[in-house]
Amino acid sequence: MKGIVLAGGSGTRLHPITLSTSKQLLPVYDKPMIYYPFAVLMMAEIRDVLIISTPDVLPAIQALFGDGSQFGVSVDYAAQTEPRGIADAFLVGERHVRGRPCALVLGDNIFHGPGFGDLLTTARKELDGCALFGRRTDEPSRFAIAGLDAGGTLTSIEEKPAAPLSDWAVTGLYFYDENVVEIAKSISPSARGELEITDVNRVYLGEGTARMVRLDERFAWLDAGTSESLLEAGRFVRSVHREQGVRIACLEEIALHMGFIDADHCHRLGFDMRNSEYGRYVMDAARRWDDSRQG
Ligand code: DAU
Repeated sequence: MKGIVLAGGSGTRLHPITLSTSKQLLPVYDKPMIYYPFAVLMMAEIRDVLIISTPDVLPAIQALFGDGSQFGVSVDYAAQTEPRGIADAFLVGERHVRGRPCALVLGDNIFHGPGFGDLLTTARKELDGCALFGRRTDEPSRFAIAGLDAGGTLTSIEEKPAAPLSDWAVTGLYFYDENVVEIAKSISPSARGELEITDVNRVYLGEGTARMVRLDERFAWLDAGTSESLLEAGRFVRSVHREQGVRIACLEEIALHMGFIDADHCHRLGFDMRNSEYGRYVMDAARRWDDSRQG
């Protein structure tokens, strides 16, 4: 399965912070925001990733990830010249997807919860059409909202509804089969001139092949797209670190645990950042991994 991180847009909801920088490069506690969605793809065992952003921001993102080999993955880049909508990712990324199933994750979405890797692997294996990931929200008018029948089956999806049918938000993580590019090409722009991902999902729904994986209350899902949610996200990541000693979305540690890199390599990555607490955590992660292997 291929992966796409969509990290463009103009970030107007974060002005003036994003007047001179990209939202997805802003820090969420100890690392850039884009690390979090990138980590989700790695946890889903996706090793072929395309990052899409605006032409002016791409060089900075490229400086962060390079070719991805330090994490044992392959990273490519593509420019979206105008914010033509989330589903436009599949037009920009058509050559990357090349008729394969593909996961899409939005560059400002943060996920954390027990057994998340297993849940993603299962969703990948069972993929037949599209898999959406739902989480209850207190702010249904901010998101796409899923309508569900009594048995919990997905029956409708509405983008930012005025009268929501449920409190289940469709999060910014989507798994699609190999038809997604053709479907994205077949939809028309919405009234605001964008190719809406909800319209792609509705095509799958109409074909009876859209299902929603429900993330229960043990899962945290944060969309760090406003100053309030950005601060909340940073506080959440810090509290998990302080209370559980775990750094969410530590790409070096995830690469190690997924078997993409070995402990020596991981330790070297940490050593190169040894002046930061993050770097020292990465070195410790490599030591802990070695110790656990030696019993
Ligand atoms: O966070 C989940 C929600 O994300 C979903 O529930 C909605 O269905 C989905 O439309 C989206 O809603 P947002 O209001 O957050 O969408 P926004 O236009 O802010 O775009 C989300 C991210 O995608 C944003 O960080 C920038 C990026 N983006 C967006 C567009 C429209 C692009 O890179 N290019 C684009 O053309």
